[in-house]
Amino acid sequence: MSVPNQQMLTVSLPMDRADRSYPIHIGSGVLCDREQWLAILGNRAVCVVTNETIAQHYLEPLVDAIQGDRQLTSIIIPDGEEHKHMATVSHVLTQALENKHERSTVFIALGGGVVGDITGFAAACFLRGADFVQVPTTLLAQVDSSVGGKTGVNHPMGKNLIGAFHQPRAVVIDLKTLDSLPEREYAAGIAEVIKYGLIADADFFRELVKHRQRLRARDPDLLRQVVARCCQIKADVVGRDEREAGIRATLNYGHTFGHAIEKVSGYGEWLHGEAVACGMVMATRLSILRGSVKQDTLDALLTFLDAFDLPCKPPAVMSLDDFLQAMSGDKKVIDGRIRFIVLQSLGDALTVDDVFRDDLAKVIEACR
Ligand SMILES: NC(=O)c1ccc[n+]([C@@H]2O[C@H](COP(=O)([O-])OP(=O)(O)OC[C@H]3O[C@@H](n4cnc5c(N)ncnc54)[C@H](O)[C@@H]3O)[C@@H](O)[C@H]2O)c1
Repeated sequence: MSVPNQQMLTVSLPMDRADRSYPIHIGSGVLCDREQWLAILGNRAVCVVTNETIAQHYLEPLVDAIQGDRQLTSIIIPDGEEHKHMATVSHVLTQALENKHERSTVFIALGGGVVGDITGFAAACFLRGADFVQVPTTLLAQVDSSVGGKTGVNHPMGKNLIGAFHQPRAVVIDLKTLDSLPEREYAAGIAEVIKYGLIADADFFRELVKHRQRLRARDPDLLRQVVARCCQIKADVVGRDEREAGIRATLNYGHTFGHAIEKVSGYGEWLHGEAVACGMVMATRLSILRGSVKQDTLDALLTFLDAFDLPCKPPAVMSLDDFLQAMSGDKKVIDGRIRFIVLQSLGDALTVDDVFRDDLAKVIEACR
């Protein structure tokens, strides 16, 4: 049975990679849409990768929808960012090999950003590259990590240091999966949502701030529009700059500060989205310091984040040197200079590498 109220967007890659362009299906109940799965998978074999938490809710309905006559293996990995490392990738690859999968097998990542990043990377490595489909089940994964083809795992020396660009063949976003998402995880995803308004669409930012209570209540109509708008912005940016040579870096707004907070606090203490929320407050303060936006942008951002109980202050114990040390190991360092994303105006961001120690000291001081 096909599902009404479906929406389809496309990630259009440049001419020389046009064959890798892919659809994003958004709707309520699309996880169970047999016709859609048949169109995406044909009769190919499948490895569904998920974790123990998500499996309880969605593995059976997904398997029911795609089963048919195909070879199908379910691979369950442990839940948590602390398992996002090479050993888990290795486990996924071993399971696929032991079950005699071939390069034509399609991997399906059923879960949040952690499952998506691990599965995408495993698919990129499997027999030198297999296809995969993203089925994101957290808000963060739906609006951000499932689109764009960044895959990978953490290394003891830092987050996401091992990975590959590997675009999915399709993204299937079932908004109903958000019903079971815990409040804190939902709020973490909201941080990435408001990011799109800040960096790419001032009107969207204002609408989000205005409708923050409806968003908090997970109003389904509003959520559908919001997820679609975020995916549209991400798809446009990825289509213009797949490998992050330029504009794609602006999607990292707040992430230079956020990654430092995650690293110093110990991964898992702050959720990624929470660290990004605080990082965006810091990046917006930096933008004010550089004279590109005014206090009212920061006030609106703080009002919005407050409605979701998202953190706006870095840990009190984190000094300027803690930030600098953590940032210097980040992927955003080029030729020894730390790159920051700042706003040129509301809805428009750019990368800079001329931020001085004093500027950072002022930003941190202003957050206390
Ligand atoms: N590849 C990218 O472009 C990109 C972008 C942003 C973030 N990331 C990565 O994404 C990860 C964070 O992703 P996340 O925030 O989705 O976290 P996550 O994958 O850890 O999921 C959060 C928690 O929610 C549970 N969960 C997931 N869906 C659920 C559902 N529908 N109902 C109930 N529980 C559910 C998970 O089991 C987990 O416990 C980080 O590792 C980050 O580095 C990647």
